Amino acid sequence: MTDAGRNAEIAPEELLRLDLANLPVPIRRPDGSDGRTAERPEDDFRAALTGIGRRRAEGELAFLDLVHDRDLVEEVKRTADRRSYEDVIVFGIGGSALGTRALRDAILGPAWNADARNRRGLPRLHVVDNPDPDTVGSLLARVDPAKTLYNVVSKSGRTTETLALYLTATESIARALGSRATADRLVFTTSPDSGPLRRIARDEGIATFSIPTGVGGRFSALSAVGILPLALAGADIDALLDGAAQMAERCRKTSLKRNPAGRLAVSLVRAERISGRRIVVFMPYGDRLTACGRFFQQLWAESLGKRPDRGPTPLAASGPADQHSLLQLLADGPADKVVVFLEAGGKAKPLQVPDRHVGIPELARLAGRSLHDILAIERRATAQALARSGCPNATVALAAPDERSLGAFLMLVQLATVMAAELYGVDPFGQPGVEGTKALVARYLEG
Ligand code: PA5
Repeated sequence: MTDAGRNAEIAPEELLRLDLANLPVPIRRPDGSDGRTAERPEDDFRAALTGIGRRRAEGELAFLDLVHDRDLVEEVKRTADRRSYEDVIVFGIGGSALGTRALRDAILGPAWNADARNRRGLPRLHVVDNPDPDTVGSLLARVDPAKTLYNVVSKSGRTTETLALYLTATESIARALGSRATADRLVFTTSPDSGPLRRIARDEGIATFSIPTGVGGRFSALSAVGILPLALAGADIDALLDGAAQMAERCRKTSLKRNPAGRLAVSLVRAERISGRRIVVFMPYGDRLTACGRFFQQLWAESLGKRPDRGPTPLAASGPADQHSLLQLLADGPADKVVVFLEAGGKAKPLQVPDRHVGIPELARLAGRSLHDILAIERRATAQALARSGCPNATVALAAPDERSLGAFLMLVQLATVMAAELYGVDPFGQPGVEGTKALVARYLEG
């Protein structure tokens, strides 16, 4: 039985647990004022639920429908079964890359591309967002275009970085295989009906997948944006969507205690409102989960950073490495932070620490422990120590870093973002503040 299959037997509540025991926030703000508020958590939750209901009725939560899109799943599977590759390269940026990278690292493992034995003939999966000449040049030179699929992902079809990557790649394919073969190596994931990529696909007969009109970039990881590359690399996309669907169901509960997105959103917003904890440090433990931090950071920043007078600042960290970097600041620095840990139960092969140097206490206490245990102990100790020093923190615990749990995680944070937006009084969708830079880049490029 696969890990994903085994996990199907786990109750939804066990797939992802939310531990808020260290999150009652102090009622003093950093300036010493009393942050007591008349609204109870239940009032905030009700307001968030009302907002979710309204947005759903207005068709703004199309990302919820992705988990039931059987036609898409079948089409993706057919594409993945039909062809085999040595390399799959995703070109995309922001919401068109971060979810895919988070899923790849968590489910396949951060060493997927380097570890041929573990891949068992499945393709490497590269996610390229920065048009950096060193990285891109080296990757394009390394792969064999005849055995590579280039998946260009852009909802708008007009993002500068992604289009530059697309053009650079087509040049390298054409040089190796001739320009007639280029279309066959490409798949576009883009808007169903508009934008330059859609037009090129029509003109040149390039295969496409659509990102539904109502699904914004950072809410699109469970669309073809994420599931196509993951399926090509052999992941179980049914389990991924099933985990997400289960979480969406849990988040329909009207009791705050039983609604994980409500609990997370209400706690984090209140941590800011009541005690000025406006910096949300998102700190996964273990390399498989590190990219989830960047995913959360974008989701929280681009969705909630809409007004100068309110809103949180997310900060992606990584444990235990950042215990030796950020922890001092979290423990004793300005009292403006709340920490969200992310951890996952075991999937990695247990790596046992041998009992050498048993006469030396610092080494003896490690003997017989697995590295996974050590990570878990470090996280627990950090959470407790921070709580003691007055830094509120929460933990999202996944049963395993696998498809089902990751589906649940993505859905949890997406729904929590929409609920938090309701409490901050901002629109979680769109990113008008990014437009100024885009326009200037275009002007400079033209000039
Ligand atoms: O969340 C978003 O909508 C953005 O981060 C976009 O994903 C990002 O700007 C890339 O846009 P596009 O997919 O249109 O290339």
